[in-house]
Amino acid sequence: MARGSAKHRPFWLLPSILSADPTDLASALRAAEEGGADAFHIDVMDGHFVPNITFGPALVRAVRARTRLPLDIHLMISEPGKYLKAFAQAGGDTLAFHIEAGGNISALAREVRALGRHPSLAVRPDTKFAEVEALLPEFDEVIVMTVMPGFSGQKFMHDVLPKMRQVRHAIDISGRAIDLSVDGGITRETIGDAVGSGANLFVCGNSVYADGPSPQENLRALRALLPGEAPREVR
Ligand code: DX5
Ligand code: ZN
Repeated sequence: MARGSAKHRPFWLLPSILSADPTDLASALRAAEEGGADAFHIDVMDGHFVPNITFGPALVRAVRARTRLPLDIHLMISEPGKYLKAFAQAGGDTLAFHIEAGGNISALAREVRALGRHPSLAVRPDTKFAEVEALLPEFDEVIVMTVMPGFSGQKFMHDVLPKMRQVRHAIDISGRAIDLSVDGGITRETIGDAVGSGANLFVCGNSVYADGPSPQENLRALRALLPGEAPREVR
C-alpha cells in the first residue's frame, strides 16, 4: 500500500471504520478524508478466529466506491486463503491475514501478490518475534497488534513495544520497504510510543470516530504528533 509513497510520506494515519456509525459510513469516510486520512483500515471478523463478527466483501466494495484512498483489509478470520480473492476483487489494496490463523503463510503471501495486492502479516500481542522474523521479507506490511483482536476501544498494550522494535530492526536490516503498522489503542497519549518503537502506519478507531471533537479535528491532532508533520488546516 504505502510502498511507493512510503518515501515521500512515511507516516500514515488509517482510520478504522469499525468505530464509525455503521448506518452512516459515507459521512465517516468523508470526514476522515477531510481530516487528512491516508488510507482506511477495514476489520473483517468471522466470529471464529475472533469473538466478534463484522464486515464482508460487499461492505469493502461499497467503501471502494466512495473513496479513492487505499483500503487496508485486516482479515481476522480462520482460513483466510478462502477469501483473499473475494476481498481483492472487492477493492482491497492491502490484504492482511494473521500468522496465528495457520496454513502455509508463504503461499498465502504469494497468492496475495498474484492477485496484484500487497500482502500484510498481522500478529497478535501474544505471538513472539521469533515466529515472524523469517517471514517478514515476504510481506509489504506487518501489523503489530497492541490489543487482542476483536474489538475497538481497548487499552493499548505497552508490553508489545519491545517486539515492535524488534520488527522495525528486522525491517531496517532487510533493506526492504516494509511498512510497520500498529493496530489497537492508538490515541494522542499512545501514538508517540508507537512512533518511538518504529511504527509508520497507525490504525485509529475510537480516537478518530468515537472520542474527541470530530474525526477531522482528531486526525489533525494525531497528525501533529507524528515526526516531520506540521499540523494542517481542516479543509
Ligand atoms: C481490533 C481491530 C482494530 C480496531 C482498532 O481487533 O483490529 O483495528 O478497530 O480500534 P481502536 O483504535 O479503538 O483500538
Ligand atoms: Zn484492525
